[in-house]
Amino acid sequence: MQPYLIAPSILSADFARLGDDVKAVLDAGADVVHFDVMDNHYVPNLTIGPMVCTALRNYGITADIDVHLMVKPVDRIIPDFAKAGASIITFHPEASEHVDRTLQLIKESGCKAGLVFNPATSLHYLDHVMDKLDVILLMSVNPGFGGQSFIASTLDKLRQVRERIDASGYDIRLEVDGGVKVDNIAEIAAAGADMFVAGSAIFSQPDYKTVIDEMRSELAK
Ligand code: DX5
Ligand code: ZN
Repeated sequence: MQPYLIAPSILSADFARLGDDVKAVLDAGADVVHFDVMDNHYVPNLTIGPMVCTALRNYGITADIDVHLMVKPVDRIIPDFAKAGASIITFHPEASEHVDRTLQLIKESGCKAGLVFNPATSLHYLDHVMDKLDVILLMSVNPGFGGQSFIASTLDKLRQVRERIDASGYDIRLEVDGGVKVDNIAEIAAAGADMFVAGSAIFSQPDYKTVIDEMRSELAK
């Protein structure tokens, strides 16, 4: 298993030429496509749905697509994303009436499953479902928008989750999302993360390869 995964958030990509931009960031060395789904209900913004995921697959994108659902209700959109080619589907537990059922639904659809924790969401949702998780995603900003600053208290939360994953013995990725940059990625990795979502830090730069290479060299330190 690759030790660290870099997952550009296409929220900050150029939507007018999305296929080309996603190809460019993968050619630049990104591992996974992070796909932010916002419904203007659970979060105050509106983005993209399963049709766009299908379009990326039809365009020839073969990398894993990591679908981050910021929607409520959660369940009815899951089969559509599985059919659209999602590889990983994560959701916010407080947006689901039945967290265990939603996790099972994702797995039965053939995708990897994960829970997402907002900065102030309690980790108690992990208590009875560790065996069903492939990913735990900690938000290091409040969800809804790209380009926000990393919330420092996430580092302590990351350390707590890293301990829980290691103690569980399960193979679970620890993903962090929001405000990840070249200058803080090493500190975030040291706190236990092994999958890094970065939107504005990558897509604001003219050369994606330079910034991804810089992130990898920070991670190698
Ligand atoms: C925020 C999204 C993030 C966002 C990250 O709700 O989940 O994936 O795009 O953007 P940056 O890296 O710019 O903070
Ligand atoms: Zn996200």
